[in-house]
Amino acid sequence: MKTIVAQHRGFCYGVKRAVEMAQGCIHCAVPTYTLGPIIHNPQMVGRLAAKGIGMANTLEEIARGTVIIRSHGVGPDIYQAAQARGLQIVDATCPHVQKAQQAAKKLAGQGYHVVIIGEKRHPEVKSIFEWSGNKAQIIETVDEARELPFQERLGAVAQTTFAGDAFQAIVEVLATKTNDFKIERTICTATDLRQQAALALAAKVDIMLVIGGRNSANTTHLADLCLQAGCKTYHIETAEELQQEWFADVEAVGITAGASTPDWLIEEVYDKMQEMNQFMGDGVKEINVGDILQGKVVSIRPDEVFV
Ligand code: F3S
Repeated sequence: MKTIVAQHRGFCYGVKRAVEMAQGCIHCAVPTYTLGPIIHNPQMVGRLAAKGIGMANTLEEIARGTVIIRSHGVGPDIYQAAQARGLQIVDATCPHVQKAQQAAKKLAGQGYHVVIIGEKRHPEVKSIFEWSGNKAQIIETVDEARELPFQERLGAVAQTTFAGDAFQAIVEVLATKTNDFKIERTICTATDLRQQAALALAAKVDIMLVIGGRNSANTTHLADLCLQAGCKTYHIETAEELQQEWFADVEAVGITAGASTPDWLIEEVYDKMQEMNQFMGDGVKEINVGDILQGKVVSIRPDEVFV
């Protein structure tokens, strides 16, 4: 059985940065909390909690110390409230999310009817909404876009992790709803790269393993894409979920992971796959050479084949 790891998978820039900023607070003398889970990955959240980085659902739960703003970002009111409570702020908002927040603020300031193309319940979308002055309209589907009345001026920003093709379909409908349309293409390339790499891999394997939190929107979307591409797909959080019977009569397995999945969880799945391979026969892994050069592949073993 051949195991192929997607060329682009796992932690994106913004999530890696946020986790590193949280890890940098581990030895701080004051109590430190993330506002909500630092990333949508329960295993990583658990690791940080074990090292003293707690999680608060609201600022009211934090009496003193430091609050870490996660990569999804928050609205301007939260910064003000944290300062009013005398809390130190470690701002791990992803710079791409900040760009979307500022774009929404600017469009609203210029008098555009702001549309956020994104998932209504996603915390990043909530933060962009708040930066628009709570004026934006959130549109998630083409049907919702069709229902929008004509607007004098219409400005659209995207949730950074929104699917590129779905964004484009909505934008095409929105373009018919105004004579003055401004689009801020704030979709982050990390998401697209992971999606394209997953689809390319799904086309050449029998099974896809998509690793990441079940509460991670981008991981769930990766799994959905692979399924829709006709590839048998398992969304797992950890190696413990792997089952030997999934791999009966399977020649090639693809592995990918959401942008909020740490490397160590991917490695654990890889290691378990190698164990299963030894049980089932010879194991061969294909690794992208670029990943090795960039240090993304941490362990090289004799049975690995580079492509
Ligand atoms: Fe930032 Fe893109 Fe990741 S927006 S948090 S680098 S998916």
